Amino acid sequence: MINVEKIRKDFPMLQNKRMQNHRLVYLDNGATTLKPNVVIDAVVDYYKNYGANAHRGDYDLSYQVDQRYAKTRQTIANFINADKDEIVFTSGATEGLNMIAYGLGKKLSEGDVILTTEAEHASCILPFMREVNEHSASIAYVPLHEDGRIYLKDVESMMHENVKIVVLAMIGNVLGYLAPIKEICNLAHQYGAVVVVDGAQSIPHMEIDVKDLDCDFFVFSAHKMCGPTGVGAFYGKKELLDKMEPLLLGGDSNARFDNKCYIELKHAPEKFESGTQPLDAIFGFGEAIHYLEKIGMNNIMQHEKELHAYAIKKLKKMDNIILYNEDADSGIITFNVKDVFAQDAASFFNANGVAVRSGQHCAKLLQNILGISATVRASIYFYNTKEDVDYFLEICEKATREACLDIFF
Ligand code: ALA
Repeated sequence: MINVEKIRKDFPMLQNKRMQNHRLVYLDNGATTLKPNVVIDAVVDYYKNYGANAHRGDYDLSYQVDQRYAKTRQTIANFINADKDEIVFTSGATEGLNMIAYGLGKKLSEGDVILTTEAEHASCILPFMREVNEHSASIAYVPLHEDGRIYLKDVESMMHENVKIVVLAMIGNVLGYLAPIKEICNLAHQYGAVVVVDGAQSIPHMEIDVKDLDCDFFVFSAHKMCGPTGVGAFYGKKELLDKMEPLLLGGDSNARFDNKCYIELKHAPEKFESGTQPLDAIFGFGEAIHYLEKIGMNNIMQHEKELHAYAIKKLKKMDNIILYNEDADSGIITFNVKDVFAQDAASFFNANGVAVRSGQHCAKLLQNILGISATVRASIYFYNTKEDVDYFLEICEKATREACLDIFF
């Protein structure tokens, strides 16, 4: 059990009266999460008390930044049961997926196949599409069940020896279904394929053990788990990182180079971290993980599941609401208001002080499968209360076609 009212006091945005006359009901946690004071303080702490760059200065301040940088890498590694040398800092999940696609793509040749699904976020699929185009490989899609879920038997039906990479989200950002990642990894490895997991929507909400999943790569952003924007990380099995080429070259990632174009890179993970990293955000990222650990990932998941089940039970009784994922495994509720364009419905929610996202949610192939052009997405996090959900439900009930269009006149 978590004490939500106590937790909410940690979040300045949840105390912020500027947002609306009533308290802010923030249900866009799939897009980004609010930040607790400990994270904000850690970011400010960098600028107030450290200031220096990492790995470049022969003086105390820079050395202290080095230590905190290394400590945060260890914090992230412990959080997902990895080794510290298997954690690469990035600017977020998008950059991580691009780096992995580039590194793995270099080894693709004609006839190779990348297996994915049509439910993926653009950041998960576009970097791999580019590699397919550049290396005369092809992309294949695991057929989604009619509800949008991924079943192991369907992945199995698509596996063959030309499949070199399987890339998919552990929890989809539109429907919130949990993919059977552990089983997919086991299957893919039997065919010699590597599995890249987009963990952006799973790691904020549940315990992740990359050793238990046996995935080859696991990618995530800090900002969806109470951390700052502009920073993220990915896990890669050490032997794969050692063989992989970095997308970016520059300062701090090379051991030496000469004027004959000889370049010697450092070992992983440093070879992937060119240029000055977002040190303030890395400080904040570490604190975000400590904060989540203190609350407990299982408690977080339990709380979100309870709120989700409560909301779904009531939404199912509303004739004006079309639900697309009533049995989601996470706190994502994707719906439409009958006869109302998703963005108009979202504007109605906004006018009533509820923040939700509308549109295609960057997963542009999925809408064809669902046969709709856009949806509204409400996404719950651990600081949401039953009162938040009750208020959201009250607005759902009021969201008729007339009411939604009325706000424009
Ligand atoms: N990937 C984020 C979302 O699903 C931005 O909203």
